[in-house]
Amino acid sequence: RRCSLLGAAIETGASQRGCLMGPASLRTAGLAQAIGTLDWTVTDLGDTRIDGQTHVPHENGAIHHLAETAAWIETLVPLAQAAAQAHDLPIFMGGDHSISAGTVPGMARFAAGQGRPLFVLWLDAHPDLHNLFSTESGNLHGTPVAYFTGQPGFEAYPPLVSAVDPAHVCMMGIRSVDIAERDAIARLGIEVHDMRAIDETGVLPPLEAFLARVRAADGLLHVSFDVDFLDPAIAPAVGTTVPGGATFREAHLIMETLCDSGLVRSLDLVELNPFLDERGRTATLLCDLTASLMGRRVLDRPTRRFA
Ligand code: ARG
Ligand code: MN
Ligand code: MN
Ligand code: MN
Repeated sequence: RRCSLLGAAIETGASQRGCLMGPASLRTAGLAQAIGTLDWTVTDLGDTRIDGQTHVPHENGAIHHLAETAAWIETLVPLAQAAAQAHDLPIFMGGDHSISAGTVPGMARFAAGQGRPLFVLWLDAHPDLHNLFSTESGNLHGTPVAYFTGQPGFEAYPPLVSAVDPAHVCMMGIRSVDIAERDAIARLGIEVHDMRAIDETGVLPPLEAFLARVRAADGLLHVSFDVDFLDPAIAPAVGTTVPGGATFREAHLIMETLCDSGLVRSLDLVELNPFLDERGRTATLLCDLTASLMGRRVLDRPTRRFA
Protein backbone atom coordinates (compact mmCIF):
# COMPACT_ATOMS: atom_id res chain seq x y z
CA ARG A 1 0.00 0.00 0.00
CA ARG A 2 1.06 3.55 -0.67
CA CYS A 3 1.30 6.31 1.87
CA SER A 4 2.35 9.92 1.38
CA LEU A 5 3.59 12.69 3.63
CA LEU A 6 2.58 16.27 2.94
CA GLY A 7 3.92 19.07 5.14
CA ALA A 8 1.79 22.14 5.86
CA ALA A 9 3.99 24.35 7.99
CA ILE A 10 1.30 26.67 9.35
CA GLU A 11 1.68 28.43 12.66
CA THR A 12 -0.51 31.47 12.10
CA GLY A 13 -3.60 29.73 13.54
CA ALA A 14 -2.00 29.34 16.96
CA SER A 15 -1.09 31.91 19.61
CA GLN A 16 2.52 30.75 19.97
CA ARG A 17 5.07 30.32 17.22
CA GLY A 18 6.82 27.02 16.53
CA CYS A 19 4.39 24.74 14.65
CA LEU A 20 6.19 25.89 11.51
CA MET A 21 8.86 23.36 12.45
CA GLY A 22 6.41 20.47 12.88
CA PRO A 23 6.99 18.72 9.54
CA ALA A 24 10.78 19.04 9.90
CA SER A 25 10.66 17.58 13.38
CA LEU A 26 8.53 14.62 12.26
CA ARG A 27 10.98 13.95 9.43
CA THR A 28 13.94 14.17 11.79
CA ALA A 29 12.25 11.77 14.20
CA GLY A 30 12.06 9.27 11.32
CA LEU A 31 8.38 9.20 10.35
CA ALA A 32 9.03 7.95 6.80
CA GLN A 33 11.47 5.31 8.06
CA ALA A 34 9.08 4.09 10.76
CA ILE A 35 6.31 3.60 8.18
CA GLY A 36 8.70 2.25 5.55
CA THR A 37 9.67 -0.72 7.72
CA LEU A 38 5.99 -1.75 7.74
CA ASP A 39 3.98 -2.88 4.74
CA TRP A 40 4.01 0.55 3.05
CA THR A 41 5.83 2.49 0.38
CA VAL A 42 6.23 6.10 1.45
CA THR A 43 6.32 9.16 -0.81
CA ASP A 44 7.35 12.44 0.78
CA LEU A 45 5.56 15.19 -1.15
CA GLY A 46 7.56 17.88 0.67
CA ASP A 47 6.14 20.97 2.29
CA THR A 48 3.55 23.09 0.56
CA ARG A 49 3.51 26.86 1.00
CA ILE A 50 1.47 29.98 0.44
CA ASP A 51 2.66 33.35 -0.84
CA GLY A 52 2.85 36.40 1.41
CA GLN A 53 -0.59 37.72 2.32
CA THR A 54 -1.87 41.18 2.99
CA HIS A 55 -3.83 41.92 6.15
CA VAL A 56 -7.59 41.27 5.93
CA PRO A 57 -9.59 42.84 8.78
CA HIS A 58 -12.65 41.19 10.35
CA GLU A 59 -15.58 42.48 12.36
CA ASN A 60 -14.26 40.29 15.20
CA GLY A 61 -11.17 42.29 16.09
CA ALA A 62 -9.61 39.38 18.03
CA ILE A 63 -9.00 37.46 14.80
CA HIS A 64 -5.46 37.44 13.49
CA HIS A 65 -3.94 35.99 10.32
CA LEU A 66 -7.27 35.62 8.53
CA ALA A 67 -5.78 36.07 5.06
CA GLU A 68 -3.09 33.46 5.71
CA THR A 69 -5.63 30.93 6.97
CA ALA A 70 -7.90 31.50 3.97
CA ALA A 71 -4.92 31.05 1.64
CA TRP A 72 -3.89 27.82 3.38
CA ILE A 73 -7.41 26.43 3.03
CA GLU A 74 -7.47 27.32 -0.65
CA THR A 75 -4.09 25.61 -1.15
CA LEU A 76 -4.71 22.50 0.94
CA VAL A 77 -8.15 21.44 -0.32
CA PRO A 78 -6.99 20.41 -3.82
CA LEU A 79 -3.70 19.03 -2.49
CA ALA A 80 -5.48 16.81 0.00
CA GLN A 81 -7.89 15.60 -2.63
CA ALA A 82 -5.04 14.85 -5.06
CA ALA A 83 -3.03 13.07 -2.36
CA ALA A 84 -6.04 10.87 -1.62
CA GLN A 85 -6.38 10.08 -5.31
CA ALA A 86 -2.70 9.14 -5.60
CA HIS A 87 -2.16 7.31 -2.29
CA ASP A 88 -4.00 4.92 0.00
CA LEU A 89 -3.19 6.92 3.13
CA PRO A 90 -1.98 10.51 2.92
CA ILE A 91 -0.54 11.93 6.13
CA PHE A 92 -0.85 15.69 6.54
CA MET A 93 1.90 17.01 8.79
CA GLY A 94 1.05 20.30 10.49
CA GLY A 95 1.30 22.90 11.32
CA ASP A 96 -1.36 23.99 13.72
CA HIS A 97 -4.89 22.57 13.62
CA SER A 98 -6.13 25.16 11.11
CA ILE A 99 -4.74 22.81 8.42
CA SER A 100 -7.79 20.63 8.99
CA ALA A 101 -9.98 23.37 7.55
CA GLY A 102 -8.26 22.39 4.28
CA THR A 103 -7.43 18.71 4.63
CA VAL A 104 -10.86 17.59 5.82
CA PRO A 105 -12.90 19.36 3.09
CA GLY A 106 -10.38 18.03 0.55
CA MET A 107 -10.93 14.50 1.84
CA ALA A 108 -14.70 15.05 1.99
CA ARG A 109 -14.64 16.07 -1.65
CA PHE A 110 -12.60 12.99 -2.52
CA ALA A 111 -15.05 10.77 -0.63
CA ALA A 112 -18.02 12.41 -2.35
CA GLY A 113 -16.39 11.62 -5.70
CA GLN A 114 -16.44 7.95 -4.67
CA GLY A 115 -20.07 8.26 -3.61
CA ARG A 116 -19.09 7.57 0.00
CA PRO A 117 -19.42 9.67 3.16
CA LEU A 118 -16.41 10.98 5.08
CA PHE A 119 -16.25 10.32 8.81
CA VAL A 120 -13.86 12.20 11.09
CA LEU A 121 -12.30 10.98 14.33
CA TRP A 122 -11.17 14.09 16.21
CA LEU A 123 -8.55 13.28 18.85
CA ASP A 124 -8.02 16.51 20.76
CA ALA A 125 -8.32 18.25 24.13
CA HIS A 126 -10.46 20.84 22.30
CA PRO A 127 -13.49 20.60 19.96
CA ASP A 128 -12.23 23.47 17.73
CA LEU A 129 -15.85 24.45 17.07
CA HIS A 130 -15.66 28.24 16.99
CA ASN A 131 -16.86 30.31 14.08
CA LEU A 132 -15.24 33.61 13.16
CA PHE A 133 -17.63 35.53 15.39
CA SER A 134 -17.53 33.31 18.49
CA THR A 135 -13.76 32.93 18.87
CA GLU A 136 -12.49 35.11 21.69
CA SER A 137 -8.82 34.19 21.36
CA GLY A 138 -8.89 34.89 17.61
CA ASN A 139 -6.64 31.84 17.14
CA LEU A 140 -8.05 30.25 14.02
CA HIS A 141 -6.88 26.72 14.94
CA GLY A 142 -9.99 26.83 17.13
CA THR A 143 -12.33 26.90 14.10
CA PRO A 144 -11.85 23.96 11.67
CA VAL A 145 -14.67 21.69 12.87
CA ALA A 146 -17.31 24.41 12.65
CA TYR A 147 -16.06 25.25 9.15
CA PHE A 148 -15.90 21.73 7.70
CA THR A 149 -19.33 20.82 9.09
CA GLY A 150 -20.76 23.76 7.16
CA GLN A 151 -21.74 26.07 10.02
CA PRO A 152 -22.51 29.75 9.38
CA GLY A 153 -20.08 32.54 10.22
CA PHE A 154 -17.35 31.70 7.72
CA GLU A 155 -18.01 34.21 4.95
CA ALA A 156 -14.35 35.25 5.22
CA TYR A 157 -13.06 31.71 4.53
CA PRO A 158 -13.18 30.22 1.03
CA PRO A 159 -16.59 28.68 0.18
CA LEU A 160 -16.72 25.14 1.59
CA VAL A 161 -16.27 22.59 -1.22
CA SER A 162 -17.79 19.61 0.59
CA ALA A 163 -19.25 19.51 4.09
CA VAL A 164 -18.92 16.73 6.65
CA ASP A 165 -22.19 15.73 8.30
CA PRO A 166 -21.89 16.56 12.05
CA ALA A 167 -23.35 13.10 12.69
CA HIS A 168 -20.20 11.67 11.07
CA VAL A 169 -17.83 13.32 13.55
CA CYS A 170 -16.63 11.59 16.72
CA MET A 171 -14.45 13.39 19.25
CA MET A 172 -12.34 11.78 21.95
CA GLY A 173 -10.14 13.27 24.65
CA ILE A 174 -12.07 16.53 24.96
CA ARG A 175 -11.40 18.40 28.20
CA SER A 176 -11.34 22.12 27.37
CA VAL A 177 -14.53 23.55 25.88
CA ASP A 178 -15.54 27.21 25.52
CA ILE A 179 -19.17 28.23 26.09
CA ALA A 180 -19.95 28.83 22.41
CA GLU A 181 -18.45 25.43 21.61
CA ARG A 182 -20.52 23.71 24.26
CA ASP A 183 -23.63 25.20 22.66
CA ALA A 184 -22.47 24.08 19.22
CA ILE A 185 -21.89 20.50 20.43
CA ALA A 186 -25.43 20.35 21.80
CA ARG A 187 -27.00 22.03 18.79
CA LEU A 188 -25.22 19.87 16.23
CA GLY A 189 -25.46 16.68 18.26
CA ILE A 190 -21.81 15.86 17.74
CA GLU A 191 -20.62 12.65 19.39
CA VAL A 192 -18.16 13.79 22.06
CA HIS A 193 -16.37 11.44 24.44
CA ASP A 194 -14.85 13.76 26.98
CA MET A 195 -12.25 12.61 29.45
CA ARG A 196 -14.85 11.75 32.02
CA ALA A 197 -16.54 9.39 29.57
CA ILE A 198 -13.20 7.78 28.75
CA ASP A 199 -12.43 7.33 32.43
CA GLU A 200 -15.79 5.65 32.88
CA THR A 201 -15.64 3.23 29.93
CA GLY A 202 -12.09 3.17 28.59
CA VAL A 203 -11.33 4.06 24.99
CA LEU A 204 -12.42 0.87 23.24
CA PRO A 205 -16.23 0.83 23.60
CA PRO A 206 -16.83 4.30 22.13
CA LEU A 207 -14.18 3.80 19.45
CA GLU A 208 -15.50 0.43 18.33
CA ALA A 209 -19.07 1.72 18.24
CA PHE A 210 -17.97 4.60 16.02
CA LEU A 211 -15.94 2.32 13.73
CA ALA A 212 -18.96 0.05 13.40
CA ARG A 213 -20.98 3.07 12.24
CA VAL A 214 -18.32 4.00 9.70
CA ARG A 215 -18.27 0.46 8.34
CA ALA A 216 -22.06 0.20 8.20
CA ALA A 217 -22.21 3.43 6.16
CA ASP A 218 -19.36 2.28 3.87
CA GLY A 219 -17.58 5.45 4.93
CA LEU A 220 -14.01 6.67 4.61
CA LEU A 221 -12.35 7.66 7.87
CA HIS A 222 -10.11 10.67 8.42
CA VAL A 223 -8.24 10.82 11.74
CA SER A 224 -7.23 14.24 13.02
CA PHE A 225 -4.63 13.91 15.78
CA ASP A 226 -3.89 17.02 17.87
CA VAL A 227 -0.80 16.59 20.08
CA ASP A 228 -2.74 18.03 23.02
CA PHE A 229 -4.97 14.94 22.94
CA LEU A 230 -2.06 13.33 24.79
CA ASP A 231 -1.21 14.01 28.39
CA PRO A 232 1.34 16.85 28.66
CA ALA A 233 3.57 14.58 30.76
CA ILE A 234 4.25 12.40 27.70
CA ALA A 235 3.80 15.07 24.99
CA PRO A 236 5.13 18.46 26.10
CA ALA A 237 5.63 19.87 22.58
CA VAL A 238 2.35 21.75 22.19
CA GLY A 239 1.31 25.30 22.96
CA THR A 240 -2.11 24.40 24.35
CA THR A 241 -1.40 21.74 26.98
CA VAL A 242 -4.36 20.66 29.10
CA PRO A 243 -3.83 18.33 32.08
CA GLY A 244 -5.48 14.92 32.14
CA GLY A 245 -4.84 13.82 28.57
CA ALA A 246 -4.68 10.39 26.95
CA THR A 247 -2.01 8.05 28.25
CA PHE A 248 0.67 6.36 26.20
CA ARG A 249 -1.22 3.08 26.36
CA GLU A 250 -4.65 4.54 25.55
CA ALA A 251 -3.17 6.33 22.52
CA HIS A 252 -1.43 3.23 21.19
CA LEU A 253 -4.54 1.10 21.74
CA ILE A 254 -6.60 3.61 19.74
CA MET A 255 -4.08 3.55 16.91
CA GLU A 256 -3.85 -0.26 16.88
CA THR A 257 -7.64 -0.58 16.88
CA LEU A 258 -7.88 1.92 14.02
CA CYS A 259 -5.33 -0.19 12.13
CA ASP A 260 -7.32 -3.37 12.71
CA SER A 261 -10.46 -1.67 11.40
CA GLY A 262 -8.88 -1.06 7.99
CA LEU A 263 -11.07 2.03 7.68
CA VAL A 264 -8.54 4.87 7.99
CA ARG A 265 -8.01 6.72 4.71
CA SER A 266 -6.09 9.83 5.88
CA LEU A 267 -4.40 11.33 8.93
CA ASP A 268 -3.56 14.79 10.27
CA LEU A 269 -0.67 15.10 12.73
CA VAL A 270 -1.08 18.61 14.10
CA GLU A 271 -0.03 21.14 16.73
CA LEU A 272 3.44 19.67 17.20
CA ASN A 273 5.54 22.61 18.39
CA PRO A 274 9.17 21.41 18.34
CA PHE A 275 10.31 24.66 20.00
CA LEU A 276 8.59 23.34 23.14
CA ASP A 277 9.77 19.73 22.86
CA GLU A 278 12.22 17.93 25.14
CA ARG A 279 14.96 16.18 23.19
CA GLY A 280 12.48 15.28 20.43
CA ARG A 281 10.39 12.99 22.57
CA THR A 282 7.00 14.27 21.44
CA ALA A 283 7.96 13.96 17.77
CA THR A 284 9.28 10.46 18.43
CA LEU A 285 6.04 9.51 20.18
CA LEU A 286 3.99 10.76 17.22
CA CYS A 287 6.09 8.58 14.88
CA ASP A 288 5.55 5.54 17.11
CA LEU A 289 1.80 6.18 17.31
CA THR A 290 1.64 6.55 13.53
CA ALA A 291 3.54 3.27 13.20
CA SER A 292 0.91 1.60 15.43
CA LEU A 293 -1.80 3.03 13.18
CA MET A 294 -0.03 1.58 10.16
CA GLY A 295 0.59 -1.90 11.42
CA ARG A 296 3.46 -2.07 13.89
CA ARG A 297 2.78 -4.76 16.48
CA VAL A 298 4.58 -6.00 19.57
CA LEU A 299 3.59 -9.60 18.77
CA ASP A 300 1.98 -11.20 15.75
CA ARG A 301 -1.68 -11.53 16.47
CA PRO A 302 -4.82 -12.00 14.43
CA THR A 303 -6.51 -8.76 13.38
CA ARG A 304 -9.07 -7.93 16.04
CA ARG A 305 -12.49 -8.00 14.40
CA PHE A 306 -15.54 -6.38 15.86
CA ALA A 307 -19.04 -5.42 14.81
N1 ARG B 1 -10.91 27.03 22.37
C1 ARG B 1 -9.65 27.71 22.48
C2 ARG B 1 -9.59 28.85 21.49
O1 ARG B 1 -10.46 28.98 20.69
C3 ARG B 1 -8.49 26.75 22.26
C4 ARG B 1 -8.35 26.22 20.88
C5 ARG B 1 -7.24 25.24 20.79
N2 ARG B 1 -7.20 24.67 19.50
C6 ARG B 1 -6.19 23.95 19.04
N3 ARG B 1 -6.27 23.50 17.81
N4 ARG B 1 -5.15 23.69 19.80
O2 ARG B 1 -8.65 29.63 21.55
MN1 MN C 1 -7.12 21.05 17.91
MN1 MN D 1 -6.24 20.98 20.97
MN1 MN E 1 -11.93 30.31 22.55
